[in-house]
Amino acid sequence: MIVAANWKMNPALDQASVLATALANQSFPQIKRILFAPHPYLVPMSVRLTGTALEIGGQDCHFADHGAFTGDVSAAMLRDCGASLVLLGHSERRAAHGETSDIIAQKITAALAQNLDVMLCVGETKAERDDKKAEQVVIDQLQASIPKHAPPARLMVAYEPVWAIGTGAVASPDDIAAMHDVIASVLAERYGANHVPPILYGGSVNADNAASLFSIPLVSGVLVGGASLDADAFATICAAAQDAA
Ligand code: PGA
Repeated sequence: MIVAANWKMNPALDQASVLATALANQSFPQIKRILFAPHPYLVPMSVRLTGTALEIGGQDCHFADHGAFTGDVSAAMLRDCGASLVLLGHSERRAAHGETSDIIAQKITAALAQNLDVMLCVGETKAERDDKKAEQVVIDQLQASIPKHAPPARLMVAYEPVWAIGTGAVASPDDIAAMHDVIASVLAERYGANHVPPILYGGSVNADNAASLFSIPLVSGVLVGGASLDADAFATICAAAQDAA
């Protein structure tokens, strides 16, 4: 079981230090816990988290090693600042930064080359689900975003329906189970049934719904946005993951 916190562009640095310390002090030895922190926080957070079980990752990286890319960061920079993994293809980046699956594939290649593990996000919009295209959209995102050579042991996939992110509207257990099954089939086709990377669910996960999410087949963890900014809520989610592990 994996529980990952996606802080997005939150919180202020003084609060982030307190929160990171609180998360690091929580003990859930049977699960993997990850914190995707804003880039400027990676150095102070990684210093703070040294020796703890909380892994730290960046929320994006550029596909190039270096160059004239104002405002971007490279995978090597993330690694040098203490990250051991990176979140790529989040729908907020696809939508607000025009990231295509082709660009995301290049980013995954760059991240793997710098020994960063990758959590790839996929998910359909509300219009795509209403049009009954959700599964095809996710299949296409997986096929186009995961580079041919990407080793499954270095990958995690987070299924995040766009309409469920930050809205309080969680996908139904049946829809989550069905989509995780589709994702697992695509990954099994590529890697073999015994090498399917972990598949997480994300989108309005909170302390109240986490336990029921962990009981859904093929849900190997959760990617948590808003609720990861509350140490108690995050602890409750981790406890539910540990119970299900
Ligand atoms: P949310 O965000 O938990 O606030 O819905 C999840 C995410 O975007 O990763």
